[in-house]
Amino acid sequence: MSDSLSLTPGATREQTYRELLPQLRIMIEAERDTISTYANLSAALREAFGFHWVGFYLVKGDELVLGPFQGPIACTRIGRGKGVCGRAWTTAQTVIVPDVEQFPGHIACSSATRSEIVVPVFDDTGGVRAVLDIDSDRVDDFSDTDRAALEQVVSWLAP
Ligand code: SME
Repeated sequence: MSDSLSLTPGATREQTYRELLPQLRIMIEAERDTISTYANLSAALREAFGFHWVGFYLVKGDELVLGPFQGPIACTRIGRGKGVCGRAWTTAQTVIVPDVEQFPGHIACSSATRSEIVVPVFDDTGGVRAVLDIDSDRVDDFSDTDRAALEQVVSWLAP
């Protein structure tokens, strides 16, 4: 694939997802190495929307361990059920936190983070094998538009 995304500058988030998703699908289908794909997806989502932090935590035993990401350095290990990522893992559901200061147990990897969305990535038996975590420096930055688009993207990651 080409080395840059083709996106209309200044488009709404919905429109940007409409343009971005087919490009992400091609990216995902072009590479079967999971870590490579997670790395490029993190870069693409950050480039498209300018998010503060985009990355994956991988389920390893009883913890989430930091995987490929784009943004400031982050916490490397998160216990089962801890923080927003742990909630998405144990509930196997997308979690949107409009204001991280109102989320009990939020893990503040970066003081700039104001809101976040975490989307579980499933394996072929329906277990959670990773989570996609996106942090914004703006309060209430995520909606069902993000949820729907990101759940669609991670569904393409299924083996
Ligand atoms: N805030 C997350 C931890 C991961 S970092 O934000 C990159 C949480 O509460 O799970």
